[in-house]
Amino acid sequence: MNLIDLPNRPVVPAPWAEGDNIPWSEPDFSERMLKEHLSQEHDAASRRAAKIDQQVNWIHNHLLGGRTTSVLDLGCGPGLYTSRLAALGHSCTGIDFSPASIRYARKQARQGGLHCTYYAEDLRSAYFGSGYGMVMLIYGELNVFHTEAAHDILQRAWQALAPRGALLLEVSVPDSISYRGNRPPTWYSSQNGLFSSRPHIVLEENHWDEASRTTTTRYYAVDAASAGVSGYAVTYQAYTPDEYVALLQECRFHDVMLYPSLIGVQDDSQSDYMVVVARRPA
Ligand SMILES: C[S@@+](CC[C@H](N)C(=O)[O-])C[C@H]1O[C@@H](n2cnc3c(N)ncnc32)[C@H](O)[C@@H]1O
Repeated sequence: MNLIDLPNRPVVPAPWAEGDNIPWSEPDFSERMLKEHLSQEHDAASRRAAKIDQQVNWIHNHLLGGRTTSVLDLGCGPGLYTSRLAALGHSCTGIDFSPASIRYARKQARQGGLHCTYYAEDLRSAYFGSGYGMVMLIYGELNVFHTEAAHDILQRAWQALAPRGALLLEVSVPDSISYRGNRPPTWYSSQNGLFSSRPHIVLEENHWDEASRTTTTRYYAVDAASAGVSGYAVTYQAYTPDEYVALLQECRFHDVMLYPSLIGVQDDSQSDYMVVVARRPA
């Protein structure tokens, strides 16, 4: 893209039409994103360690009743949850298409002697395996998939579970998605940031579409030297709590339970998310 493409873009983006995510799987981007996952200054790509410790504690003690099992983490990133769960005795598998995150997760597992296996694959097409005691997909990632892809992922998650196995979803609350879509456009400049290792400017704009109940966020990274533009778009689907329950029931899950957060109770620092737990029937 060139600068002239910006004023010529459609004012209103069509959901998922301009791309389906930021470039998590692109090698250089994934190296830069890994730094954000591991940063202890913010909770942007992954939460900070103290919060993950609290959440893993709830998953292990409450959700899994302190009994070890086999866990599949979809979109595991650098394995910050799987490595902690494996240290508690669970055997863990992670799938993610970020090459830098998978490399880091494998290294941590090797160095820690942890029972973790990682696959660098796309959740939209990967085989998830079978017989797991728990399958998890957290940090609102289900919402970035088109409803059909979300359905397909949930159906493969059902097949990956053992009978009575638990599905753990941490999803976006609907207001957080409409709020994001109604935020005004912003921009920032950086010498070396997430979208480029060269001096650049990032323009961000958001659009809430009431008809489809989606927010599309566009990012345009403008290279300062060449004025070349790289454009990315992410669309987030809003679901009400009742729609989450219906979606899981359509995918043959039973015993759907809702929780306010990944620590089981209201967590004001994580109010954009809620937790849905469901089971594959016996
Ligand atoms: C917000 S991060 C969360 C990472 C991890 N669950 C955590 O909380 O630390 C989302 C993760 O989902 C992964 N992801 C997104 N779409 C994916 C896809 N289609 N296939 C595989 N991984 C995907 C990204 O690479 C990224 O690691």
